[in-house]
Amino acid sequence: MKTVLAGLCLAVLLGLANGAQAATVLVTGSNRGLGLEFVRQYAADNWTVIATARNLAEADELKALAAKHKNIQLKTLDVVDAASIKTLVQDLKGAPIDVLINNAGVLGAKADQRMGALSRQTFDQVMGVNAFAPLAISDALLENVAASEQKKIVAITSGSGQLASGGGGNEVYFYNASKAALNMVMRRFAFDVRPRGVIVGIIAPGAVDTDMRREVVGDRAAQDLRPHESISAMRQLIARLPMNKSGAFLNYDGREVPW
Ligand SMILES: NC(=O)c1ccc[n+]([C@@H]2O[C@H](COP(=O)([O-])OP(=O)(O)OC[C@H]3O[C@@H](n4cnc5c(N)ncnc54)[C@H](OP(=O)(O)O)[C@@H]3O)[C@@H](O)[C@H]2O)c1
Repeated sequence: MKTVLAGLCLAVLLGLANGAQAATVLVTGSNRGLGLEFVRQYAADNWTVIATARNLAEADELKALAAKHKNIQLKTLDVVDAASIKTLVQDLKGAPIDVLINNAGVLGAKADQRMGALSRQTFDQVMGVNAFAPLAISDALLENVAASEQKKIVAITSGSGQLASGGGGNEVYFYNASKAALNMVMRRFAFDVRPRGVIVGIIAPGAVDTDMRREVVGDRAAQDLRPHESISAMRQLIARLPMNKSGAFLNYDGREVPW
């Protein structure tokens, strides 16, 4: 066993000495919650991590992590700002991205998405961030992904976007609708990019104790998954994602979710 491990370490070292590139992941909304945990785990695994956030000035935890890991590059990206996307695309021109993770999301004010108080403005905001932005960013960075070894694009969806469950009883109409819309646009996109060998993962993280989850269920989120549990499972799923699951609606544990 020891000999096998030593051999593997040597192969990795020789690979690096021969100029083998570490894989690259780009994460949106990486300053807190699930995005921050993706950065933490990929960085610890020696990936090159392009960690994006809309407001780096206030991203203290992310900046502290980047100070410890030279393989984390910080970039500004507001996922609903076309100029911000354009700047990032120009900055990354020609740089392969093995895994693009569309993680940024918003719940939207709960009071604005209930019968009797529906807000068109909040609807547009939630749809823009959760459904339009992942498609627009995947489109804008497609060449970078297609130029990589692994060629994977991931959209972090939600079980509450499942039509069959009617949103799972969370009473957040716009959020639920935005994740159903995300599922559809990414499934459509998966068909379009298949000829280029790009695999699209539509993955629900489970119920995970983050700021967003606490907005929905309050302190009961303490009973949910820890971010490191969900992210570690999703990373394993992403690593083994085959082309025949491209465009499928998957749970973090790999189970296929009925639409
Ligand atoms: N936690 C769960 O149980 C759960 C379940 C199902 C699905 N999800 C999905 O998982 C993803 C991550 O959620 P989370 O639980 O980690 O939520 P979170 O703690 O609220 O974090 C959301 C992240 O998205 C970023 N974001 C929002 N709007 C943005 C914009 N316009 N541009 C760039 N970044 C933006 C936030 O940045 P700021 O700090 O700047 O606001 C923050 O980094 C979301 O897509 C969410 O819908 C979560």
